[in-house]
Parts: sequence; structure tokens; C-alpha cells
Amino acid sequence: MPNGLRIGNLDLDVPFYQAPLSGYSDRAMRRLARRFGCPLTFTGVLLDKVALHRGAMRKLHLQPVPEESPVGAQILGADPQTMAQAAAVLEQVGFCAIDLNFACPAPKVLRRGRGGALLDHPRRILEIYQRVRDAVSVPVLVKLRIGVDSGPASREGFWEICERLASERPDALVIHGRTVGKMYRGRADWALLGEVKQRFTDQIIIGSGDLMTPQDVARRIHTSGLDGVAIARGAIGNPWIFRDCRALLAGQAPAPPPTLEEVGEVMLQHLEWILELYPEHKAVPFFRKFAAHYSKRHPRRKAALPDLMAAKTAEQVRQAIRHWFNGQAEECPA
Ligand SMILES: Cc1cc2nc3c(=O)[nH]c(=O)nc-3n(C[C@H](O)[C@H](O)[C@H](O)COP(=O)(O)O)c2cc1C
Repeated sequence: MPNGLRIGNLDLDVPFYQAPLSGYSDRAMRRLARRFGCPLTFTGVLLDKVALHRGAMRKLHLQPVPEESPVGAQILGADPQTMAQAAAVLEQVGFCAIDLNFACPAPKVLRRGRGGALLDHPRRILEIYQRVRDAVSVPVLVKLRIGVDSGPASREGFWEICERLASERPDALVIHGRTVGKMYRGRADWALLGEVKQRFTDQIIIGSGDLMTPQDVARRIHTSGLDGVAIARGAIGNPWIFRDCRALLAGQAPAPPPTLEEVGEVMLQHLEWILELYPEHKAVPFFRKFAAHYSKRHPRRKAALPDLMAAKTAEQVRQAIRHWFNGQAEECPA
């Protein structure tokens, strides 16, 4: 079994955690991850100004609760002062770590000079990191991509950022092995991530990219030389991935895939937790995004999915889940 993962004062017993996933990794998804053995989760990215907005934290249910802890918060912004203030507020409300986003490729984020756009500004990244680190006592992670694009200037900038940051020893550098320009296309460059670890051996480096199955996770942990990995899309509608990663890393065979009934039970639980966070008219469409993923392995997906998607109320969603995931659907006329 490989070692766990130490991020500042956080001692994870396994070298993986759930990555920030904007629009997904709210409290409901984080609680499920925790239940299935994930040792640490993160919020989706929060704009620094949102964290500073009075009442927004409470209204958006952003503060962590014991059932999901430990949870880290990820923040986005270009101003060192507001980033530091936001980090301090987030530490105060109970987040166990702060992750700084210099990776987001969304055009509206880039246009405002935030997220991945900052990879062209190594000094600003450093300044934000230093201000945040001085403002909090929880671990500070820095999330990067491997450059703005794949041109030589961008690659050089990436190495400069790694060098400057590594000399400051952040608690972890988390690197998504794609350029900003690639968004989510192509394959993540794990060879390059391995090279980062070889160059900065004393720095905790966490890799991200294309970790869709427990086998992907175990392979990268065993072969990349990195300290740990962050599981992202592979966990959407699939909290079992954490249980299975634990088994694989312990040298055991993963448990058999969940039965339809088990998937249905988890979907019902997930829906209830989402309903605790949002009004029904928002919770139902929000849940649809997960339903599509939960249904991926359904033997009659083509029939089940439209039914789940057509449900307009929470009760209709529950009925569709019970219908398609408790075995009865097999007896129903197609
Ligand atoms: C829907 C979605 C939302 C994401 N939101 C965030 C985010 O808020 N912050 C962040 O740093 N990365 C975010 N990411 C990137 C992931 O954390 C991860 O780095 C990336 O998806 C690569 O891993 P994967 O290929 O295993 O999914 C997001 C990715 C997706 C697909």
C-alpha cells in the first residue's frame, strides 16, 4: 500500500482526494464522497468577492458541516488583498485548507484576468500566494495547469511559476496536466507532471487529469512518482470510486460494481441532501446532471434516462429512481 498524503497539517491515510468541481462538489456530493471513504474534499471554485459578501456564505450553504469535514475551499481572484481576506474568512468558518485557482479555463474567467489567465503573470501568482499564506494558518495549496498554451513561451512560464512557488514551499502544488487552451480536450500530460516532481523533489506535487476509474487512480499513484492525485470527473455520479481506490491500493480486488438497487439508494440519498440545500425548482434540475452519470451503467439507460430527465418535481424524480433502480423496471413492458 503506498503512503498516505501529507498536506501541511492534514494527514490523509490515502494519497487521493476529491478535486474541486464547480457546479457539482457542493455539500451533498462531498458528504457522499466522505461516506465512501474519501479523506478530503473541496468546494467548487469560489470567487474571492463571494466569500467576502455578507450573508452569501450562509445563503449558499458554503460553511462546512461535521458530516462532510474535512473540506477545503478553493478561491479565485486576481487581487492579492481580496484573495487574502477571502482566505481568512474561509478559514474562520471552518474550512481546513485553502486552494488557490490559477487553472480555470472558462472564457469569462480568463477575460477578467483570473484563473488560468494568471499563468502569464508569475509574479502576481507569487504575490497572491504569499498574501494568502500570511493571512491563514491552514494549509495553502496552489492549483495550476501546465501553461496557457503549448507554445515554448508558455511552457517556460510554467517552469518559472513552479520554481518561484517551490522556493516558497506551498503545502501542495496541484497540477492539472493540460494547458488552459486545451480546456478538457486531449490527454493530460502525466509525463510532464512526473518531470515536475523530479525537478522539485522536496515539494508535495499532486496530479490531476483523466482519473476516471479506480484503475487509472492506482496506476498514476504507482507510476507517476507524484505524492498524490485529485479525483475529479471520475467521482461524478460515482462515489464508489473512493471505496474501490482504497481496495486497489491495499492490494485487494475492488468490490463488485454496485447493484441497481444500491445505485438507486445512493441517488435517493443524494437527492435528499440536495433538497436540503436548494429549493425544489433548483434542486431538481441540479440533480439531473448527476442522474445522467449515475445512469451510465444502467442496462436500460436509453429508456431510464429520459424518464429521469423528464421528472419535474422531487417526488417524480423519486418515483423514476424507484422505478428504474429497484428491479421493477425489468418486469415492465418496454
Ligand atoms: C465540471 C467540472 C468542474 C470543475 N471545477 C473546477 C473547479 O471549480 N476548480 C478547479 O480547480 N478545477 C475544476 N475542475 C477541474 C478538475 O478539478 C480537474 O482538475 C480536471 O477535471 C482534470 O481531472 P479529470 O480529467 O480527472 O476530470 C472542474 C472540472 C470539471 C469537469
